[in-house]
Amino acid sequence: MAVQISPSILSADFARLADEAAVVAATAEWLHVDVMDNHFVPNLTLGLPVVESLLKHATLPLDCHLMIEDPDRWAPGYAEAGAGNVTIHVEAAKAPVRTLRAIRDAGARAGLAINPGTPVDPYEDLLPELDMLLLMTVEPGFGGQKFLDVVLPKLRRARALVDKHGGSIWLQVDGGVSAATIERCAEAGADVFVAGSAVYGADDPAEAVQGLRAQAERATAHAAWHYKGTHP
Ligand code: DX5
Ligand code: ZN
Repeated sequence: MAVQISPSILSADFARLADEAAVVAATAEWLHVDVMDNHFVPNLTLGLPVVESLLKHATLPLDCHLMIEDPDRWAPGYAEAGAGNVTIHVEAAKAPVRTLRAIRDAGARAGLAINPGTPVDPYEDLLPELDMLLLMTVEPGFGGQKFLDVVLPKLRRARALVDKHGGSIWLQVDGGVSAATIERCAEAGADVFVAGSAVYGADDPAEAVQGLRAQAERATAHAAWHYKGTHP
């Protein structure tokens, strides 16, 4: 699986979202949209109406990360609106299998996110229901936080689980991903990288995406998990 970069508009100018989306359109694969409800996380951002507007203007597919209570009720609506990926948190979902299936049935990729303190191993049996597993590398809620190294061993275990399952599931990291940390994430097994402040805080966001990609590709090429996968 090739490296993919998903810039988070949480660190963009919310009054100019269409322009901010366009800035990374030529260099990124996805546009990461953080939906926060002030209940599951302490912060409040945007919801379906803004996503619907963004869908009319953005050329990149939207990677919607729902940090909300009751995703079982709200997540399918994002998929029906046309999001390319919809990720729900396992800590918030009461019926994750039903909700992940509803997301897929509506035509989107289905993602499952786990917080830094949530173990990955209990969710092995859910892997067939997923297109992407998101390991949070900060406590969700805010951009610009420090990367949590404590998640790296779990990332290695998640890579082993995903590979055992067949390797078609993408493994995303979100939080504190930057030039200083992306190589460790790639080496441990991530292949989809969310970056907010490292992209939109840069003088040239498009160039920042390319720089992060180059670093991740280099680290992936030397990673044990990748080497094993490509050279049986
Ligand atoms: C945090 C969000 C992230 C956030 C990452 O809860 O899920 O997507 O935008 O921002 P950085 O890359 O600045 O840590
Ligand atoms: Zn996010």
